[in-house]
Amino acid sequence: MEALAGASRRPRSLAALRALAGRPDPAARVDALGLSFPTPVGLAAGFDKDADAFEALGALGFGFVEVGTVTGLAQPGNPRPRLFRLKSDRALVNRMGFNNAGADAVAAALAQRRRRPGESVLGINVGKSKVVALDDAIADYELSVRALAPFADYLVVNVSSPNTPSLRDLQTTEQLKPLLLCVQNAAREAAGRRRPPAILVKIAPDLTDAQVDAVADLALEIDLDGIVAVNTTTSREHLRSSAAEIEQAGEGGLSGAPLKQRATTVLERLYRRVGGNLVLVSVGGIEDADDAWKRICAGATLVQLYTALVYGGPSLPALLASGVAARARAAGYSRVQDAVGSAVG
Ligand SMILES: Cc1cc2nc3c(=O)[nH]c(=O)nc-3n(C[C@H](O)[C@H](O)[C@H](O)COP(=O)(O)O)c2cc1C
Repeated sequence: MEALAGASRRPRSLAALRALAGRPDPAARVDALGLSFPTPVGLAAGFDKDADAFEALGALGFGFVEVGTVTGLAQPGNPRPRLFRLKSDRALVNRMGFNNAGADAVAAALAQRRRRPGESVLGINVGKSKVVALDDAIADYELSVRALAPFADYLVVNVSSPNTPSLRDLQTTEQLKPLLLCVQNAAREAAGRRRPPAILVKIAPDLTDAQVDAVADLALEIDLDGIVAVNTTTSREHLRSSAAEIEQAGEGGLSGAPLKQRATTVLERLYRRVGGNLVLVSVGGIEDADDAWKRICAGATLVQLYTALVYGGPSLPALLASGVAARARAAGYSRVQDAVGSAVG
């Protein structure tokens, strides 16, 4: 992160990273959410918590970078250790707990940056501050949205991290509807004369199918722009790691390869429900171009990854983007985007 943050401030370093990644294949470009994504492969939230390094991450070949989660108040997160590898599962367990500098500090940092047209898209993921009671959550999200909306191409309302107590209760439609309506309104007002950012909600893989359907219906009803599916899971089923390794990692959200199946099922369910009326961003267990391509064919306009970057290294985003473009061409599509949902009957 230090190297990436440093590179983000040096145009020559950014140019060197861009040269290493290579120019994205034009067939990979995606038009969605009123934005132009150089590739459909993005970096999921939680890596660049404070928006320190999104320029360098974009230069590595990510078509979009979702920074955050940012909360209304600065907070240190949980005590360390709080991040573990389960190597035989190509998975991670984390209980970071939204360590971040807070919405005002992140907004101040973003105000210093100059973004150039054609660069990767910037998403900002917002969440609830730990010390704020659930009953006061809406006002806390609103604080972040008002501070950050002027800098975001899109905003994600995160109600699905397992590491902030009770946060996931906000996923019920009774709680979610007023929250999302408030965010939409605050983002519109805060954007002023700029175009307001697109608004998406990020959901957990541990929702029941009925709950997934309810979020999809709500999103359509209130004209939300999209859904990011999925966050980490609290489940520890179907793992190869020993009981002792799993125990040693302890509580937190599981990410990586074991999420592949559920993330795909949730995506397919959402696509059947909303078709092309919402932008679906699929995340969870995407490790290679085949995974990314399958998600696109199953209805994802965009995909994201985090854990695979840890195991696969920094060449991954460019490889995935060129890989999906090649697969689209081989399947007879001139653009990756034309294949979205093509596998869903
Ligand atoms: C260390 C770590 C921190 C994360 N922090 C956040 C976060 O702050 N906000 C969020 O919405 N998701 C967070 N996530 C979840 C990821 O964005 C993603 O949804 C999840 O890891 C599944 O994708 P993956 O299997 O490609 O890692 C985090 C994941 C990891 C591994």
